[in-house]
Amino acid sequence: MNDDVLASLRRAVEASPEDAALRLHVAEMLLAAGRHTETIGEVNAVLQREPAHPAALELLGRTVAALTSASGTAASGTGSAEPVESDPAVEPEPVEPDPAVEPEPVEPDPAVEPADPAAAAFDWTRAESEVGSDVPPPFLPEPQLAAGEGGEGVAPLEPEAPAVTLKDVGGLDAVKKRLNESFMQPMKNAELAKAFGKSLRGGLLLYGPPGCGKTFLARAVAGELGAVFMSVTMTDILDPYHGVTEKNMKAVFDSARAHSPTVLFLDEVDAIGMKRSGLGHHAMIRQMVNQLLIEMDSMAGNNDGLYLLAATNHPWDLDEALLRPGRLDRTLLVTPPDFEARRTILEYHLRDRPLAGIDLAGIASRTEMFSGADLAHICVTAAEKAMTESIQANRICPITMTHINAALDEIGPSTLAWLESSRNVVKFSNEHGRYNDLAEYLRQRSML
Ligand SMILES: Nc1ncnc2c1ncn2[C@@H]1O[C@H](COP(=O)(O)OP(=O)(O)O)[C@@H](O)[C@H]1O
Ligand SMILES: [Mg+2]
Repeated sequence: MNDDVLASLRRAVEASPEDAALRLHVAEMLLAAGRHTETIGEVNAVLQREPAHPAALELLGRTVAALTSASGTAASGTGSAEPVESDPAVEPEPVEPDPAVEPEPVEPDPAVEPADPAAAAFDWTRAESEVGSDVPPPFLPEPQLAAGEGGEGVAPLEPEAPAVTLKDVGGLDAVKKRLNESFMQPMKNAELAKAFGKSLRGGLLLYGPPGCGKTFLARAVAGELGAVFMSVTMTDILDPYHGVTEKNMKAVFDSARAHSPTVLFLDEVDAIGMKRSGLGHHAMIRQMVNQLLIEMDSMAGNNDGLYLLAATNHPWDLDEALLRPGRLDRTLLVTPPDFEARRTILEYHLRDRPLAGIDLAGIASRTEMFSGADLAHICVTAAEKAMTESIQANRICPITMTHINAALDEIGPSTLAWLESSRNVVKFSNEHGRYNDLAEYLRQRSML
């Protein structure tokens, strides 16, 4: 291929990025040169503007075919073999994993592996990766006390200017309303809030089942306030060297103040806030909680442009001291996404993917109690199924409701277990009214 020709064509594409024909011409040249990744990039650029562009889909099909035969994992549809016909009018059966496509778990080669029958029978790597997510990491690192040396401290926080605001948070009107009343309005109207005797000190604790948007909301709050967003995970601050944990915590708050206005987001705050009865007696955690209390108590409303947000899946495990007035004294339940939120999340995760006949509202109405993370999982699973089918059929098969339905058969809502386990807390430990919104939510669903 003549690189000069290609370079000038690419300049032309840059000058008129909307010209699909030109872009596809470049893509053809790249494909002919065996530059598959770049080909797919150009074709995708066309498909993003026009998802059903026939020539682009056809070219993508050829690129995938070229890729599969080049990589030696040829499906039945490549080379001289007959392509597998799939009739678009017939809903395909849930895709059987094709042994020619799905790589089998690697069989230990008896010629290479030591002849240990037990080792051959048990795949440790796989077992570890399966078990890994269920085994909590060791709570604290072993102190490595190299004599006389102090720790290096936490890596400097990355301040981030978030591009999202509350408008990007789908649905959740009740949550947004409470967020506004208890946090945004007072912060934005400091003088007025003072006149009404509303405390501006302390911060807001977001709690709720995992994967339902606590982190996303915190970022959106920063965007809404036009503030810098800094997120710190509590376990990152812990350091086994004496005094370093406090130093780290102080550095985090100092750095947040230096960038003000800042939303400082303490993620997974339960990792440190363990009740004294639990692991909280550990000296290192104690130091951290104490320093956190000092920092919170030194906050004077939004005068120093520092907004404190924290998140946890288990607020009831937090040390009470953290929840006293002037500290994380406001709590907000971030509920599982409602219909509107689910639709927004699904739309987001399906954007830029080839689709056909997707009924977003239909999926949203069938996924009550699914978390944002569950919904993302459904979209990825459906996409994988469509891709497997595409490789078998040797053409692009867009994601259809068949793929979504198959994914829905495999994936269930993950928030129910959390809600179930929160019931007793609401029943027996809601004396401060701290979990009133949770109680209300459970009652509405006849779970309380
Ligand atoms: N209401 C919502 N609107 C848009 N996206 C959402 C919403 N709720 C959750 N998400 C998405 O769901 C995923 C999980 O959210 P995340 O904030 O990480 O959950 P958490 O911090 O509660 O575990 C993210 O990709 C997030 O963008
Ligand atoms: Mg989170």
